[in-house]
Amino acid sequence: MFDAAFHAAVEKLRVPAAGTDVVAPLLSSVVQMTRPRRVLEVGMGYTTPYLAAALVQVAEQVRAESAALAAKTAQHLDTGRKLDTDWLYADPALRAPGFYLDSYQPQFVAVDDLSIPDSSAGQVLEVLASLGLSDRVQVINANIRECRELLPEDFAPIDLAWVDAWECLYFFDHFWDLINPDGGLLIMHYLMTYPEGEAILDYITKIQRARPGELELVNLLEPHKMLQNSLTVIRRTSAGKARSFARPGGRLDFDGELRREAETQAGR
Ligand SMILES: C[S@@+](CC[C@H](N)C(=O)[O-])C[C@H]1O[C@@H](n2cnc3c(N)ncnc32)[C@H](O)[C@@H]1O
Repeated sequence: MFDAAFHAAVEKLRVPAAGTDVVAPLLSSVVQMTRPRRVLEVGMGYTTPYLAAALVQVAEQVRAESAALAAKTAQHLDTGRKLDTDWLYADPALRAPGFYLDSYQPQFVAVDDLSIPDSSAGQVLEVLASLGLSDRVQVINANIRECRELLPEDFAPIDLAWVDAWECLYFFDHFWDLINPDGGLLIMHYLMTYPEGEAILDYITKIQRARPGELELVNLLEPHKMLQNSLTVIRRTSAGKARSFARPGGRLDFDGELRREAETQAGR
């Protein structure tokens, strides 16, 4: 996903004690997989260029896939055929036309108050510039407790929030309502293996029990490390939309909504 020049540029942001060497590429894969439109990072450093670069890559992929999907749909319909498995499996295979009806112009806001001298947050802008990514990140140099009103006006709902600062509880209490209720992700670093973090997990788990349907939660532990060794992935599900095209057995229903979306996406 990233070339040698990228790795060389971001190496100066890698702080071994921050423990995000595996997390940063994992976050970029989450971006590749979930294609968020609004991303918020709290606690900048090594992870910032991975998120920014992944969003750029996804935007390029979406543009290319959208053009190729429209072309394959038009070509298929021009032969007088209905949508079918030949259409589905032709490149770009499996693509859902509805996803491509909205343009993909991701926004990425990164917050850091530069309060930790050992963090590499202060060097992030320089590295982003060297990678040509400066205009892809809106940086807010402020304490997270003061930054809700500093977010861009149209910055909601948030599809992916990544919190790597000592403020996970505050963030959950004051920003959860901004997370997309249709599957938005809140990922928090290092809560599993120290008392305050475990208390936050306990608090969120109690909310999960008290409000059925509100969220899904999974913890990922790096068992070979003593500190900075986990991710908590929380998915907000309070207004999840069904995205099932398939009938029982996995057979697709090519008529109805799918056909309408495919025709619209192909400009028919
Ligand atoms: C552990 S470091 C982030 C590491 C970074 N994600 C990485 O991969 O290198 C935590 C960062 O959060 C910032 N920070 C700590 N408390 C904060 C707060 N209340 N508001 C905003 N930023 C904060 C610090 O300045 C520091 O840069």
